[in-house]
Amino acid sequence: MNKSKIVLITGGNKGIGFETARQLGIMGYEILIGARSEGKGHEAVTLLETENIKAKTVVLDVTKPSSVLSAVEWIEQEYGYLDILINNAGVFFEGNASPSELGLSVLKNTYETNVFGVFSVTKAILPLLQKSSAGRIVNLSSALGSLTLNSDPTSEFYNVNSLAYNSSKTAVNALTVFFAKELRDTPIKYNGIRVYNNCFLNSI
Ligand SMILES: NC(=O)c1ccc[n+]([C@@H]2O[C@H](COP(=O)([O-])OP(=O)(O)OC[C@H]3O[C@@H](n4cnc5c(N)ncnc54)[C@H](OP(=O)(O)O)[C@@H]3O)[C@@H](O)[C@H]2O)c1
Repeated sequence: MNKSKIVLITGGNKGIGFETARQLGIMGYEILIGARSEGKGHEAVTLLETENIKAKTVVLDVTKPSSVLSAVEWIEQEYGYLDILINNAGVFFEGNASPSELGLSVLKNTYETNVFGVFSVTKAILPLLQKSSAGRIVNLSSALGSLTLNSDPTSEFYNVNSLAYNSSKTAVNALTVFFAKELRDTPIKYNGIRVYNNCFLNSI
């Protein structure tokens, strides 16, 4: 019997993460909703089940090493492998603050989720992806992470001068490139996608 394809989506309880879960679920993937709140995760799973999607929730706060470890251990015990990791969890904390108004704590907290969270979940889950015949990692980036677009006065993103969020997505792009290079000779593919206004733009 073929094994189910298992997908973990961080921050899968709402927004783009939830819709990704729904669409992959409809395609037959088994969904693991990573949610920092167990209740919100269960609500998302209940909604998916109304569409006959096979889904479970796993408590996962990407900023907490103990939470990342527990989630990985649970997936290992439950399935023994993972096919797809979607690093979707993301935050935007700075409102309209200009770079000189931005608090250091806001910058750090943004990076905790958007950058260090992606790094730590990826690193912890790699051994499970290596047990898949074709492991995949997808990072949710943003057009706002492009330094080219941020510095082009003709770009529609030029005036979105959000240092913390934008640079966190620039870092996600860098992280994607470096992991992809390390994994290039393995069955694992490591991709980033750029999203703008809830629309998929392209791969990076
Ligand atoms: N929306 C867009 O147009 C757009 C454009 C470009 C890129 N993106 C990127 O796409 C991704 C999803 O965006 P979205 O608009 O769907 O965001 P959203 O609706 O705000 O959802 C964000 C999700 O991330 C979760 N999350 C936040 N911090 C977390 C943490 N520490 N640990 C685990 N989960 C955490 C949230 O959980 P809670 O429900 O508990 O808060 C929520 O499930 C983000 O990475 C975002 O930067 C979005």
